[in-house]
Amino acid sequence: MSTSPVIMITGATSGFGEACARLFADKGWRLIITGRRQQRLDELQQALGGAEKTHTCCFDVSDRQAVEQAFSSLPRSFSQIDVLINNAGLALGLEPAHETRLDDWESMVDTNIKGLLYCTRSVLPNMVERKAGYIINIGSVAGNWPYPGGNVYCGTKAFVRQFSLAVRADLLGSNVRVTNIEPGNAETEFSLVRFKDDKSRADKVYEGTVALRAEDVANTVWWLVNTPEHVNVTTMELMPTHEANGPMSFHRE
Ligand SMILES: NC(=O)c1ccc[n+]([C@@H]2O[C@H](COP(=O)([O-])OP(=O)(O)OC[C@H]3O[C@@H](n4cnc5c(N)ncnc54)[C@H](OP(=O)(O)O)[C@@H]3O)[C@@H](O)[C@H]2O)c1
Repeated sequence: MSTSPVIMITGATSGFGEACARLFADKGWRLIITGRRQQRLDELQQALGGAEKTHTCCFDVSDRQAVEQAFSSLPRSFSQIDVLINNAGLALGLEPAHETRLDDWESMVDTNIKGLLYCTRSVLPNMVERKAGYIINIGSVAGNWPYPGGNVYCGTKAFVRQFSLAVRADLLGSNVRVTNIEPGNAETEFSLVRFKDDKSRADKVYEGTVALRAEDVANTVWWLVNTPEHVNVTTMELMPTHEANGPMSFHRE
């Protein structure tokens, strides 16, 4: 029986999650990949060594029962999770707060906050019992730096940052590590989702600038996982060289 470690990646059907899945599979890890698009999960499973190496779980992270069901029905060989990457997430819309759709706000809270909570709570008891494990949350620069139209997306990622820090406080002495990675602008399906399949609007986000690639984030995750066990990188902000924070803005009459 294989003893290679197991990594669970939520939202592995595209972007950062898919890049992490490909990299860790390449390095010999066994994978649990999740997302809502079964066909993409199936294709990725095929590409990454089939069912023996890669287990697929198709569920919506914001559906608490579905998350619990997915964790409780993991095959025995995948039931001991060494690393969880809480990656599934999304931004919806870029309207100012007074014009945004409440449904979009709810979806972001349900996915980016509640989904991350359900997965974290499901995986932690086993890690604490084994005194081993690593949770890597995918936050965002949006959790540190507000921007117009970011409103609830920024809020959800600020939650992820503070939750990561607070969980670390709970886990002191357990040997379980927690990191919040905070990427900046990265070219994935993120903007296509944000602008609801408006490709030309999504493409403009990356026009004339060099964004992070999904592989940059995957390489960062790989580096983190390979730091010595006594090292905990608490937060890590990762921006493209072509991105920086602006000055405070002022309204003038
Ligand atoms: N791209 C950026 O500029 C950027 C910057 C900072 C942080 N981030 C964060 O990085 C993470 C990954 O984003 P990405 O850039 O890789 O975007 P992406 O290409 O759109 O990937 C998002 C992934 O999340 C999954 N997902 C979304 N909602 C889900 C739900 N309710 N249940 C289960 N899975 C769900 C999607 O899978 P399905 O559609 O198959 O469910 C997909 O696999 C997100 O948390 C995002 O907020 C992105």
